Amino acid sequence: MTARTEDQPRTNAAPVIEIRDLHKSYGSLEVLKGVDLVAPRGHVVSLIGSSGSGKSTLLRCCNLLEDSQQGEILFEGEAVRWKGEGMARHPADRAQVIRIRTNLSMVFQQFNLWSHLTILQNVMEAPVTVLGRPRAEVEAAARRYLDKVGIGDKCDAYPAQLSGGQQQRAAIARALCMEPRALLFDEPTSALDPELEQEVVRVIKALAEEGRTMLLVTHDMRMAADLSDHVVFLHQGRIEEQGPPDRLFGAPQTDRLRQFLSVTA
Ligand SMILES: Nc1ncnc2c1ncn2[C@@H]1O[C@H](COP(=O)(O)OP(=O)(O)OP(=O)(O)O)[C@@H](O)[C@H]1O
Ligand SMILES: [Mg+2]
Repeated sequence: MTARTEDQPRTNAAPVIEIRDLHKSYGSLEVLKGVDLVAPRGHVVSLIGSSGSGKSTLLRCCNLLEDSQQGEILFEGEAVRWKGEGMARHPADRAQVIRIRTNLSMVFQQFNLWSHLTILQNVMEAPVTVLGRPRAEVEAAARRYLDKVGIGDKCDAYPAQLSGGQQQRAAIARALCMEPRALLFDEPTSALDPELEQEVVRVIKALAEEGRTMLLVTHDMRMAADLSDHVVFLHQGRIEEQGPPDRLFGAPQTDRLRQFLSVTA
């Protein structure tokens, strides 16, 4: 048997992300009430649901930005190790947290670019400082990803000099430059005007067609229907309904999903 190095996947068959019976509270408010979720390699899983249903919380629990009190989180088949219980439960292994978090790159609604760094510096920052990759190699990759999202000419600009759609595409290039196993998007288009939104949707669609693993929280039902292999409808911290997009959007089974779709359509 050959030794496995830290950056090799444990097994290609294991889902990139698997969540089992996850419970998460903020104080006395239980926000996730036993959620299961599987994101197989190469699949796009969309999370939909009304405001406050727990979508962002679930996404943030996946990459361990939030603690959870009960249930399991597996990354490529490797279970997160915990110490303590309930509200005192925290990940036990710092190196494991960093490895998982750097492999699940997040793209936020508000872009979160560093305003004092150029676009190229923004994209290079984490691979150089967090992963310790050689600067010249990272710069070549960063330029490639900026080209890929269509803003290769903006390397030396600062975020404030870009449109919202361009800033979000820079944030996507930054996420890609980490060479993650999956991309986690939290409402990537909702801060954008409709015409800028479409340029970001096109980039996300191209990534989906490349077979990248993605978890996508979105209010854009057309994007969810168009890109997803699987759609999960969260309601008050529980999965109310889930399935392939054709069925979820074409033939919803529950009154709650029917009602949600009637107001979002
Ligand atoms: N840091 C926090 N402290 C306390 N409560 C929080 C915190 N973050 C979220 N919540 C609460 O958890 C619940 C779920 O929030 P979450 O942000 O996951 O919802 P969401 O489905 O992403 O909503 P939206 O569509 O508005 O983004 C809400 O009731 C929210 O008020
Ligand atoms: Mg949210």
